[in-house]
Amino acid sequence: MSTPSPDIRRLFEPRSIAVVGASHDPEKIGHKILQNIISSGYKGAIYPINPKGGEILGQHVLTALAEIPGELDLVCTVVPAHYVFDSVKAAAQQQAKFNLVISSGFSEVGNSEEERRIVAYAREHGMRILGPNIFGLYSATAPVDVTFGPGGILPGHVAIITQSGALGLAMIGKTAAENIGISAMVSVGNKADLNEADLIEYLVEDPNTHSILMYIEGVRDGAHMVEVLKRVTRRKPVVVIKSGRSRRGAAAAASHTGSLAGSDDVFAAVMRQAGVLRAESIKEGFNLCRFLSRTSVPQGGNTVIVTNGGGIGVLATDACEKYGVSLLDDVQRLQEIFGPVTPDFGSTKNPIDLTGGATETAYEGALAAALESDAIHAVIALYCETAMFDADKLTPLIASTHARYAAAKKPVVFSAFGGGSIDDNIGRLAEKKISVFDDVYEAVACLGGLYRYYHHRTTPPLPPDEVALDAAAMEEVVRGARADRRTFLLADEAQRLMGLIGVPMPQSRVARTLEEAVAHAEQIGYPVVMKIVSRDILHKSDAGGVALDLETRDEVMDAYQAILRNARAAVPNARVTGVEVSEMVRRGLELIVGARRDAGFGPIVMFGLGGIYVEVMKDISFRSVPLNRAEVLNMMAEIRAYPLLRGVRGEDPKDIESVVNAILRVASAIRQCESITDIEINPLVAYEEGQGARAVDARILLAKV
Ligand code: COA
Repeated sequence: MSTPSPDIRRLFEPRSIAVVGASHDPEKIGHKILQNIISSGYKGAIYPINPKGGEILGQHVLTALAEIPGELDLVCTVVPAHYVFDSVKAAAQQQAKFNLVISSGFSEVGNSEEERRIVAYAREHGMRILGPNIFGLYSATAPVDVTFGPGGILPGHVAIITQSGALGLAMIGKTAAENIGISAMVSVGNKADLNEADLIEYLVEDPNTHSILMYIEGVRDGAHMVEVLKRVTRRKPVVVIKSGRSRRGAAAAASHTGSLAGSDDVFAAVMRQAGVLRAESIKEGFNLCRFLSRTSVPQGGNTVIVTNGGGIGVLATDACEKYGVSLLDDVQRLQEIFGPVTPDFGSTKNPIDLTGGATETAYEGALAAALESDAIHAVIALYCETAMFDADKLTPLIASTHARYAAAKKPVVFSAFGGGSIDDNIGRLAEKKISVFDDVYEAVACLGGLYRYYHHRTTPPLPPDEVALDAAAMEEVVRGARADRRTFLLADEAQRLMGLIGVPMPQSRVARTLEEAVAHAEQIGYPVVMKIVSRDILHKSDAGGVALDLETRDEVMDAYQAILRNARAAVPNARVTGVEVSEMVRRGLELIVGARRDAGFGPIVMFGLGGIYVEVMKDISFRSVPLNRAEVLNMMAEIRAYPLLRGVRGEDPKDIESVVNAILRVASAIRQCESITDIEINPLVAYEEGQGARAVDARILLAKV
């Protein structure tokens, strides 16, 4: 029987902590954790537990958890793996609420069974496990440092959740060196019980946390994580650094959707959909989080660049395009605002170029003009070292500008470039918790992140557009394949299923003899297409199993024989059901639409440029399901070939609405029919507006039973 979960607040704000395995030896992890708890200024009750008893760091040591007199919020378990279960049992008997299992030696080394046993016992007794295989947890609110890190964590407003232990420990030192204040730092290790989503539920409510940084290697229960993130990113920015971008795992998948959906592509798409900002490196992640935790949200999309260097201004303009920062380009308005403060030889077009001759007074005047104008919502302030501008005045100028902008709730990013004196200024400003970047791209990337967050927050969430399908009838089609011990549908079954999904396919019949092939062709009407139907041949074109544009009875007869011959040569023992004869579909724009049940994120959909070169072009995009019409349109607009749908070189636009409907219907099918793992339509041929889209081929895979 499971008991309700304890309040997650008690993990971050424990009133009492027991350290099981608190060691007398200052070199051991169990000693260092106790030392950090004490030196972090923790005010609650501390219970070191060690069978030897005695005293450690001035604390009286209890020989067993059972000796603890009152309530116990948090246990930190630091004993070798084979003692952990007994220790967890004792903690549960003491009604402890949370248990940080620092110990290694579980699923990360193949000992998954013991890990499951520990978690099952804990959950049955109302206790939640963080870990195992973690370095612990720091919380600025408590405050408490239950880690074996170097200590000296700077309290602040960035929360960090990390799956990597060593990297996480190193982050403690690095954040202090980089003047990044931390509100919470949590190591999730093997995520046997609590995972990122559970922790974020607390962090979103924590007033100390202004931004959340996650370092993720692998995802568990991705569908739940996405659901939580979608909610959280409307209130606080979340930045994710994900390692493991390999496509290796996906390469062996049976469908294009599977092999194209390299785990990282799906992860990236799903995170974007959830409003999460993706950082490519730890440095970028730190920059973004630090900036986002200190800045206010812009009130609109107009940015100006104020610079004393033309070149650096152009670089920033390029960076704005890359990171999606839109520059105010109302020339008249810019002249009104900046004309009075820009020298005659400068430029009031955005970038506002004060030129290398600008003094600190001119520079300050231009920044003040930008601050005071309601037409400007964010500023990129660039400074190049010159003899005209006293470098000693840079720190006070930036500090006062920063304070004024913060008070006006208008975002500003600074970038300064020059020699040693500029680096000294940057260092001094960092101590005042003001970030100044020595690289323009880093500065603009932060503003770009802020704008992505702003757009996500200001775009109202729409309910999913799900199409109610006849799931029972779909299951009935699946049952036929199951009876035949297949995990895929044959052509005629796929056609029936596509009919139920509501994506039209051309008329077709399966011929088992030459005579049948001719009869079907004459019934359907020329021209026809013929394709091999075999449970052993998934890639029909590759096996020479497809013939197009057959116009006469003789061509059908030749093609029938050639297809069987080619298929047998390509896959010698292939079991062949027959040859499918179908109506020849008029040419149009060939697209691919797929849906699959992803191991990490649950149902996802894929859209892209289709046809036989789909794997070469890899012009595809993904979304998690459920999704709405607007998200489908965004997903479609992401592919490089999207202009082809809008019509190029005088072509009429394609029937985008029909493609949207096909995607929504396929997405609904994968949600409503549990037996189906993959649906792939390739090609889905899109015609001109009002003329629809037709699925030419559909591959449908079933879950193994
Ligand atoms: N209850 C309480 N204390 C116990 C105990 C129990 N059941 N069994 C042993 N202890 C005490 C020991 O007496 C010892 O104290 P002492 O040094 O004063 O004698 C202390 O607990 C530690 O036990 P020990 O056997 O010396 O283990 P250890 O300190 O060498 O290693 C771990 C314990 C948990 C640190 C180790 O097993 C481990 O997993 N290390 C990897 C941790 C890690 O890297 N985690 C991931 C980080 S990202």
